[in-house]
Amino acid sequence: MTNQEAHAVPTSEPSTRHAPAHANHAQAHRGAPAHNPPPRHLPRSPRRGRLPGRRRPGAAGTTVVLREGSTVLIRQIQATDAPLLAGIFARLSPASRWMRFLAAKNHLTEAELRYLTDVDHHDHEALAALAPDGNGIGAARYIRYPHDPYTAEIAIAVVDDWHRRGLGTHLLAQLSDRARHHGVRRLSALISADNEAMARLLATMNAEVVDCGAGTIEYQIALPPPTAAHHHHQRAPCTG
Ligand SMILES: CC(C)(COP(=O)(O)OP(=O)(O)OC[C@H]1O[C@@H](n2cnc3c(N)ncnc32)[C@H](O)[C@@H]1OP(=O)(O)O)[C@@H](O)C(=O)NCCC(=O)NCCS
Repeated sequence: MTNQEAHAVPTSEPSTRHAPAHANHAQAHRGAPAHNPPPRHLPRSPRRGRLPGRRRPGAAGTTVVLREGSTVLIRQIQATDAPLLAGIFARLSPASRWMRFLAAKNHLTEAELRYLTDVDHHDHEALAALAPDGNGIGAARYIRYPHDPYTAEIAIAVVDDWHRRGLGTHLLAQLSDRARHHGVRRLSALISADNEAMARLLATMNAEVVDCGAGTIEYQIALPPPTAAHHHHQRAPCTG
């Protein structure tokens, strides 16, 4: 999941300490500024086809069947989804919250929820996963770098009860497809160095390690255009 949030995320957030190159973006991605929304340096996509009282095309989502047979709905997050996101956050363990936000967080503020649901589906896309009972069980998002429109940072979280059923894999696959469709060529993920689950998930996407910070590792996933050959160069793993 993504890094976004005065700062609802403490100024001591590890991602801002250890990734100066992406500090502003990372901070924005993990939460929402309490007072000022993050500046948007790219034009927001026009909300094509939106008519009053009608859902955006594609908002209904798709269903996926997990390894153990559960059917889960994955759909785009809408402006009205603050309660859904708050419900997902409430079901994350403290450890999962730390891994997601790289900070100790007990709740999401209203400003953070507004930010995390203010999605233009082009520079900022977010997907939610819903269990058959309608409750939120996971979310994934990308936010395009203001200074590099071909790169976007991702963030993902699955509630602990639903770990290791394949949901993270589905969320990341669908998010990658949408990012590619919107011209993103690289997905960046800044994770805690001890986040084995996310490292495994990223490995399934052929992610490469591009930077090692103090306690964090940055990965990138290449999203070549469908016609381009995929040249994959494995970099040396981080040490220490
Ligand atoms: C990372 C996370 C999203 C994975 O979600 P998930 O639904 O459990 O993932 P999947 O079931 O699709 O598993 C993906 C791969 O990771 C592996 N994996 C998952 N959890 C693991 C764990 N705790 N230890 C080791 N491997 C693990 C799975 O075995 C699978 O690999 P495989 O396909 O080779 O078997 C989830 O653990 C999570 O929400 N963590 C907290 C938030 C976080 O860390 N976000 C990442 C930073 S933004």
